[in-house]
Amino acid sequence: MPITLDPTNSYQLETLAIRAGTHRTQFNEHSEAVFLTSSFVFDSAAQAAARFIGQEPGYTYSRFTNPTVTMFEERLAALEGAEQCVATASGMSAVLACVMGHLKAGDHIIASQSVFGSIINLFNNVIKKFGVETTYVSATNVAEWQAAIRPNTRMFFLETPSNPLTEVADMAAIAVVAKSCGALLVVDNCFCTPLLQRPLDFGADIVIHSATKYLDGQGRVLGGAVLGSKKVMEPVYQFLRTAGPTMSAFNAWVFLKGMETLKIRMDAHSANALSVAQWLAAQVNVARVYYPGLPSHPQHQLAMKQQKTGGGIVSFELKGGREEAWRLIDSTRMISITANLGDTKTTLTHPATTTHARITQEARDAAGITEGLLRIAVGLEAVSEIQTDLARGLYK
Ligand SMILES: Cc1ncc(COP(=O)(O)O)c(C=O)c1O
Repeated sequence: MPITLDPTNSYQLETLAIRAGTHRTQFNEHSEAVFLTSSFVFDSAAQAAARFIGQEPGYTYSRFTNPTVTMFEERLAALEGAEQCVATASGMSAVLACVMGHLKAGDHIIASQSVFGSIINLFNNVIKKFGVETTYVSATNVAEWQAAIRPNTRMFFLETPSNPLTEVADMAAIAVVAKSCGALLVVDNCFCTPLLQRPLDFGADIVIHSATKYLDGQGRVLGGAVLGSKKVMEPVYQFLRTAGPTMSAFNAWVFLKGMETLKIRMDAHSANALSVAQWLAAQVNVARVYYPGLPSHPQHQLAMKQQKTGGGIVSFELKGGREEAWRLIDSTRMISITANLGDTKTTLTHPATTTHARITQEARDAAGITEGLLRIAVGLEAVSEIQTDLARGLYK
């Protein structure tokens, strides 16, 4: 049974993160149940037939329908203000489902050059083989998006803030350009989550998530999501139903529990990240700090219009190159050397040799990913202890 929230009340995001989408079984469990079952049984052959053609609502097979996954989808849809959510096995499969659901051979994508490295690989090495071309532009220069439009442009794709340089794209302005040529604007909202920013409110058509990051929040499982109107989600759902990059019920349950603390975690990540960014900006060995919450960030004003806070990710450039960056990483004793982000544990990454290692040098240059750049996903440890750990390698 769905637990219906009072329809006369427009609940705040922290309440929706805890309660939206809850369905209870006949046992009236308080915490959401995990349905680890591949298929569902029918009362009769006629009921099976009616369920498979969508004449009767109900569950059939967990590749495309599972009650725990549905709870995750309904909760995230409520948070993003979307009509529908399609949950996927990972953030990358969310991007794939979105592209495969909406594009065909001969179509064209305009993408920000500052997107996660694997997305560039997906567009250049996989999607291209099926006849879909991508042009890369600056996330922050709206005129470049306009100039890149071709008669066959069908999709605009961006991340804001971007990984790793935290560039902030003007979603409302880019949405106007996308609409002018009939293209869908897809925004990866992984860095902010709906607790800090809701892209659909700024004119995006589709929101993408790597749930692996802040929605889980403790680095346990992989998952993703695609959200938008029912009409826009239909081909995405059909791709998932047929091809099967599906979220597991167990992972959906982990995300449901993770989302319950999303508000307090995002606030705490943001407060710690602001302190770390301010501290880094005052260090003589640091050439530049990238954090949208700092007034020195080139899109600070825009960020504060679109986002509630600067978020939890800070990148910084050391005065030296790779040697200094690796020395700082190797000097830490507490911070985790790992490529994931959005965890309670602070993580430190050298993007040029990890997350963005498989793209070309030219693409790294275009995205501003230098050998001296480090990305820190600020966790929830005592901020003074995060700073102490970073300081060890800064002044060796
Ligand atoms: C911004 C962003 N989008 C998408 C992804 C892909 O997500 P996943 O690793 O869950 O496939 C990542 C992963 O690091 C990411 O940082």
